[in-house]
Amino acid sequence: MGITPLSLEEIKKMTRACRIAADTLNYLEKYIKIGITTNEIDELANDFMQTQGAKSACLGYHGYPKYTCTSINEVVCHGVPDDTVLKDGDIINVDVTSWIDGFFGDTSRMYAIGNISDDAKDLIETARQARDLGIEAIVPRGFTGDIGFETNKYVTRKGYTTIKEIGGHGVGRRFHEEPFVPAFGKKGKGERLVPFHCITVEPMVNQGTDQYVEFDIPGSSIKYYHTADGLLSAQFEHTVLVTDTGYEILTLP
Ligand code: MF3
Ligand code: CO
Ligand code: CO
Repeated sequence: MGITPLSLEEIKKMTRACRIAADTLNYLEKYIKIGITTNEIDELANDFMQTQGAKSACLGYHGYPKYTCTSINEVVCHGVPDDTVLKDGDIINVDVTSWIDGFFGDTSRMYAIGNISDDAKDLIETARQARDLGIEAIVPRGFTGDIGFETNKYVTRKGYTTIKEIGGHGVGRRFHEEPFVPAFGKKGKGERLVPFHCITVEPMVNQGTDQYVEFDIPGSSIKYYHTADGLLSAQFEHTVLVTDTGYEILTLP
């Protein structure tokens, strides 16, 4: 129980892990096009992380079988890379978590494949903005509910929904730590943010219902999820250092 703030030395290591995760997403940009498979994206991400001296935190995590998560269209999160070929009009989230020197850097973003619909574009920009507004709500001695409140307000105002049961988390010496960082909430409620600890902000934004269907991943206790109505879902994720004066985003592109 409880959160131990990071030392300056640990913050440096966390910053490096996060830089590698963000650089991996940048590196993938030129490859994620019509015709590539999610397995190929997965291998490219792993190769890049290795050249940077990092490992994928996902492989073997609760039995998870791949290096990254690749969530296409109606897949909400934890999509497992396979031989699926990306096609014109798809949207995909690639979620990368690097592990180096004992620290984890966790980030994800959407990629548009070929020409996507205006509706898909709007959903993607809403998810990006929802994350960024959530981050901007971080204040010293603030609460996770401050983040969720701003996220959910923006998303519902745009006519979309947020996933309630899955969300952000503490990250640092472990992949998933306290606190849970929901994509909805009330100002001043939830758990208190701790200066010099990292959290992720990673709202999942759905076109339609916030209900989802859960699927098993063979050999793993991790699940993946589809929207219950088959409509699109989008997500962006940053790892953020909470400071004594505000915050610092560690996974900027
Ligand atoms: N990176 C995901 C997150 O944002 C977690 C993936 S766990 C895995 O929290 F096992 F599916 F890789
Ligand atoms: Co995360
Ligand atoms: Co992630």
